[in-house]
Amino acid sequence: MVSYKVILIKNGYVIENNSLVLKDVLVEDDKIVEVGVIEDKGYEVLDAKGCLVMPGAVDVHVHLREPGFTKKETIKTGTMSAAKGGFTTIMTMPNLNPVPDNLEALKVQLDIIKRDAVVNVYPYGAVTVNQEDKEKADIEGFYKYVKAISDDGRGVNNLEVLKEAMLLAKKHDLVIASHAEDNYWKYAPEGEFIAVRREIELAKEVGCKYHFCHMSTAESFEAIRKAHEDGYTNITCEVAPHHLVLNEEMIKDGNWKMNPPLRSEKNRLATVEALLDGTAIMVASDHAPHTVEEKSREYSKCLNGIIGLETSLPIIYTSFVKTGMLSLDRFLEVMVYNPAKVFNLPMRKIMKGSIADIAVIDIENPHTYTKDEILSKGVNSPFIGNTYYGFTRYTLVNGKLVYKG
Ligand code: DOR
Repeated sequence: MVSYKVILIKNGYVIENNSLVLKDVLVEDDKIVEVGVIEDKGYEVLDAKGCLVMPGAVDVHVHLREPGFTKKETIKTGTMSAAKGGFTTIMTMPNLNPVPDNLEALKVQLDIIKRDAVVNVYPYGAVTVNQEDKEKADIEGFYKYVKAISDDGRGVNNLEVLKEAMLLAKKHDLVIASHAEDNYWKYAPEGEFIAVRREIELAKEVGCKYHFCHMSTAESFEAIRKAHEDGYTNITCEVAPHHLVLNEEMIKDGNWKMNPPLRSEKNRLATVEALLDGTAIMVASDHAPHTVEEKSREYSKCLNGIIGLETSLPIIYTSFVKTGMLSLDRFLEVMVYNPAKVFNLPMRKIMKGSIADIAVIDIENPHTYTKDEILSKGVNSPFIGNTYYGFTRYTLVNGKLVYKG
């Protein structure tokens, strides 16, 4: 990690009033101290020509695999991958060993984060013991250490336990992030939207903050849209880049396999619509690294999941901002501000006084994503070989340069 005391980010664009405006950004220690036309008085200069200087992106859905599955990823490699993707804050899912279903297990992860993470990391606690859908996790024991709880990787089908967890989430102002999946229907579209519909009813009844992960079917979005129309703003959802730009016709091999799976073109278009009309309040990558062996088996035996931290910003910028479908302001909302707001994370802005969590992304020079450049331990990406705008040139966390492209 390189560390400078005063950093001048020179000649980049910042977003003001939904437009790109040429401005320099001066960072001293961990804070932004000036935004404007700034003379170089011998500072460390980062050349941001052709780049957007934005608050570091926030990804609430990341699998870092440590403790337990360090062959796939570690907190070190996963957070380096996040920094490469312009993410300065991420939330990590609990399908680990040990599962963070009690404070002692959670602390194993918190200690490694303290030692190895190069970006801000907030772990989820589990909803049920060992994510087994039988009894509620010791939420009372660990709630002070987390912003949210989830059993991601599998659905909570035990509605009695789910309701108990919802009541505790409400009491302690935690978000529940739901991997909505009905165990009978599994990966079929019904598996998702049947679970979404019943969980919406429970979340309406309890009134806790309830967030649906990686939504991918038209029926799910309809149900969430209806809940919003009925005034339930405590119910939110995210969409993943892969469900926005890929469909089931495009599947080539194990690197196109994830859960929820790629779906029909109709469902892909519904996912895009949900992002554009605000039904989906944020984008999250579902970064899910696996080993080469786990992803190169016969398709039916490949594990679910693709990496996504390094391509999320480029895909959203290129496919939706550059094409004029998503405004610059909305881009910041779905990638930075809304995830921070919904999950009660510290807010960062490009303005004087803000903590300097900053991503500088190249919006003028396209780049082709290659296997060699990947910083995640996983290379399971369907986006290798694709060309995008919006790859990261620099990432700063707490005023320190943690990635340079
Ligand atoms: O594709 C997926 N991968 N979906 C999940 O729900 C879990 C994740 C993983 O942990 O690999």
